Amino acid sequence: MMREPYMVRAAGLPERVTVYEVGPRDGLQNEPMVVPVEVKAEFVARLAAAGHRVIETTSFVHPKWVPQLADASELLAGMERVPGVRYPVLVPNERGLDRALEHGVQEIAVFASATETFARKNLNRTLESQFEMFEPVVARALEHGLKVRAYVSMCFGDPWEGPTPIGQVVAVGRRLLDLGCAELSLGDTVGVGTPGHVAALIGAFGGPSRLAVHFHDTYGQALANTLAALREGVTVVDASTGGIGGCPYAESATGNLATEDLVWMLHGLGVETGLNLESLVETSTWLAAELGRPSPSRVVQAMGTGPARPTTDRNVKE
Ligand code: HMG
Ligand code: MG
Repeated sequence: MMREPYMVRAAGLPERVTVYEVGPRDGLQNEPMVVPVEVKAEFVARLAAAGHRVIETTSFVHPKWVPQLADASELLAGMERVPGVRYPVLVPNERGLDRALEHGVQEIAVFASATETFARKNLNRTLESQFEMFEPVVARALEHGLKVRAYVSMCFGDPWEGPTPIGQVVAVGRRLLDLGCAELSLGDTVGVGTPGHVAALIGAFGGPSRLAVHFHDTYGQALANTLAALREGVTVVDASTGGIGGCPYAESATGNLATEDLVWMLHGLGVETGLNLESLVETSTWLAAELGRPSPSRVVQAMGTGPARPTTDRNVKE
């Protein structure tokens, strides 16, 4: 069993990529079970120990909309923070920002939709009125010295509206960047994009500056799309531990690009990540046991130690 890829550098790729880990947020928000807060804290700690320097930790959304992350305050109050690691949280509105500020959060992410239907389903807003919600959030966050990331969802297609026009994505994304967001993550929420489409979208933004990519793997395109984005010069790639994830308000959204699959490819291409693949696989194996289902990641399946049993004190005691 190979435990690391044979490295052959390919031309035209960045030297280093920042893997923006979304497992604790995008991953756990879509699990049928509510993961106990102490398991979430251990999960975040394990990710930092594996080398992650940015871990999207939770969401300050309405707890009834996403009960899986209703313990955001408790998690932030109790978890350890490693110096040098960023712990952004998702914030939709001013109420969410207030809650995040109470916990000394230094980085937030707002999340917009590129389509009318998903804006209504995910945010209870129209495409236009979502900006009225975000504008004061971003303005106040910047006043407090926070770093703000923005997502655009449904960048490639939407299950209700079909393919999303590239111009519509660019218009939404530009408005978010113009508010002062430092980074814009292009979300393929339902995983329908293909590499040529990715390159065309990045080109339509005028190049990779301030762009990140966020691919769900519903149609098996996430790694190919990531390579296309890297070739366009993108250096921030979102991924989720073991490939868990999805959006509860887009039924066809399955797991994110798996961090381990991404890291195997990047290390094989000689692109630095600062991540320890063995530790990532160990964490996914541990998490799969906590969630009671195997990890969807192919690399975890190949390198993992088989069906793991829960190992936390919590489970041993039970
Ligand atoms: P709404 O019902 O329109 O809220 O929901 P509202 O503004 O009318 O407020 C109603 C009540 O909720 C008020 O309480 C507020 O205080 C309270 P009342 O006065 O009636 O007692 N409230 C809150 N409480 C706690 N925290 C808050 C909050 N906001 C309002 N933040 C809202 C609008 C945006 C809140 C709702 O639609 C929501 O929470 N949506 C979040 C959905 C979500 O989290 N989806 C998953 C994340 S997005 C995603 O996964 C995609 C991504 O990964 C990228 C990709 O893949 O493409 C990022
Ligand atoms: Mg997502």
